[in-house]
Parts: sequence; C-alpha cells; structure tokens
Amino acid sequence: STHEPLFGKTLLYIANIGQHEDFDAARKKAEKLGAKKVFIEDLRSEFVQEFIWPALQANAVYEDRYLLGTSIARPCIARRQVQIARSEGAQYVSHGATGKGNDQIRFELTCYALYPHVIAPWRIPEFYSRFRGRKDLMEYAETHGIPVPVTPRAPWSMDANLMHISYESGILENPKNHAPSDLYQMTTNPEDSPNEPDVLEIDFAKGVPVKVTHVKEGKSKDTALEIFCYLNEIGGKHGVGRIDIVENRFIGMKSRGIYETPGGTILLHAHLDIETFTMDREVRKIKQGLGIKLSELIYNGFWYSPECEFVRHCIDKSQENVEGRVQLSVFKGQVYILGRESPKSLYNEELGHIYIIP
Ligand code: ARG
Ligand code: SIN
Repeated sequence: STHEPLFGKTLLYIANIGQHEDFDAARKKAEKLGAKKVFIEDLRSEFVQEFIWPALQANAVYEDRYLLGTSIARPCIARRQVQIARSEGAQYVSHGATGKGNDQIRFELTCYALYPHVIAPWRIPEFYSRFRGRKDLMEYAETHGIPVPVTPRAPWSMDANLMHISYESGILENPKNHAPSDLYQMTTNPEDSPNEPDVLEIDFAKGVPVKVTHVKEGKSKDTALEIFCYLNEIGGKHGVGRIDIVENRFIGMKSRGIYETPGGTILLHAHLDIETFTMDREVRKIKQGLGIKLSELIYNGFWYSPECEFVRHCIDKSQENVEGRVQLSVFKGQVYILGRESPKSLYNEELGHIYIIP
C-alpha cells in the first residue's frame, strides 16, 4: 500500500555535492526506518570536473544572470542514482521535487535518458490527494515514527551545493520583498567585507582552471575540487556573486530566485577574459550562441540529449587553445581583471603601434 512506508524494500540514496548536511544523521535515520540499504555518495569531484567545468567553458548563464548552480547538479545526482538502481536491480527510481518546478523535469529527463522507470510522488493522485501540504506530512511522520525537525526551517526554500545556494518561495515569493540580510550563507555582505582585496592568479588549460595562486600569500591549489572550494572561500569573503532575479521556469511560469555563486562568478570573469584573448573572433561569435543554447538545455533538463551532446562537443573543441594566466582582484562584491598572459595569445602588441591614416 502506498499509505505505508516503503522501507524494507527501499534503497536510500543521498548525493554529497558539497551541501552542508549531517550525512551520518541521515544514514542513521534511514537505517532506523528500515531502509534496505543506504548509499551516501561523494560526487563532489565529478560534479566539478564533469558538470561545472563544461558549463564554465560555455560561459553558461541562464537569462543573462543565473549561473545554473541547481540545474547543473541535477544530471550529476540522477546519473549516480541510476547507476545504483542498475547495480542493485532496483525496479524504480524516485525523487521528491515538487510538481510545479524545474527540478522534477531535470531529474526525470535524466532518468528517462538513462533508465526507464521513474516515480514522481508529487504527481501521483493517491499521494497528492492525501498529502495536501506540510501539515499532512508532519502528521504522517508522527504516526509512523519518522523523526522530522521540530523547529520550522527558514521561511523559504533552499537548494545548496558546492557551486551555489539558491533561495526561493515562502516570503520571497512576493518579488517586491527584499531578501533579509541574514539569508545568505556563502557570502559576506559586500558592505561588511574586508577593505583589502585578495589578488589571485588563475591558470587555464583547455578552458578550465588548473591552478589558482594567492599572489601575496604564495599558496596555490591545483585540483579541480580544491580550486573551486578555494575560490568559493575568497569570493565568499568579499561578497561576490549575489543575484536577485525573476526567471522563466521551463513549465511556463515566472519565479523569483536569489542566488549566491562566489567561486563560479570569479571563474566566469577569468574565463571570459582568457577566452577572448586566445580565441579567433569568428569562432567566438558562433561559440557564444552555442553557450546560450547550452544554458537553455541545462536549465530545461536536457543534459543527456543528442542536441546537448552535440553542443558540448563543439564547445569543447572551441576550448583547445584557451590557456594562459589571468590575474584578478576580488574586492567588495566585484571581480577586477588586472592582466593576462598566454602562449596561445592572438594579441599582437606590435599592431598597437601602427596607425592607419585615413
Ligand atoms: N530556480 C532554480 C533552478 O531552477 C533553483 C531551483 C531550486 N531551488 C530551491 N530553492 N528549491 O535551477
Ligand atoms: C521545486 O519545485 O522542487 C524547486 C523549484 C524548481 O524546481 O524550480
């Protein structure tokens, strides 16, 4: 019966993509409820290398502002879920996204591409007619001994991973309301950020960062995950990457969202700079259009589709010579490019001395 917990037959899967969560507590809770098996998978490195890096190579930004931190995580999460389902011989996979958002589509399209059977509880009439809201769910949890937090969470919905945190719904639904100042968890308010900039050097190869160095402190990071986390730290400290927008959801409604993407925002600036420095002008124009296309495909959940594979392949090709070093300063919510150098530079300093007399 769908009215009883399915535990006993159910596998529980949680992806660690850098959100701050008590994974041990989640495991214990699932075990206590009788989950057949619990999988807590550390996907942080593959999330950065296989999802965030291709988005960066494309300068992927949805509707000119959103860096796609939630959207790009979904295929990464669902891919592993499908791998587990296959190796464990599970009959179905499921997700808990609501029935009016983008996330249901992203999870399901990934699953349809990789595995045929998906359950969306929020769209099963038996489920949604019985659970009309939070109150019904809380009552159900109480009767079935499922521990849930007693203190209500923040009056908005959050989605966190190592790339960003997004905040929406609840009191944020009124687009006129300002975000409360204590909402942000990854970034300092630029008004309170340090009065000294941090100057960084970022090295790129094939359009992705391979090293970041703090010029003054002389320390550097050179693995994908460490580079990204370090840039989050520096960007967070200086309040970089906050946006408050109204966006168009795939399903045909507008929604208000607030995002903070500190490391991703630094990288976008640096990548744009080294790319223009090393890329042919006409290739750049075509590639820019493909970047917009890719952003749409990521947002709409089509990561695993023939058209997305094609676009990613072309973008990857465009990045062959995107290498070199960018120096930048991070300060008061901003990223300031200071200089760049590259063995693949297409810049000709000599030409600067030639004057064309009409
Ligand atoms: N609107 C963003 C997207 O579609 C974020 C969705 C999830 N965020 C949340 N706070 N529940 O990618
Ligand atoms: C949800 O509705 O599950 C979150 C928001 C979204 O997916 O757009």
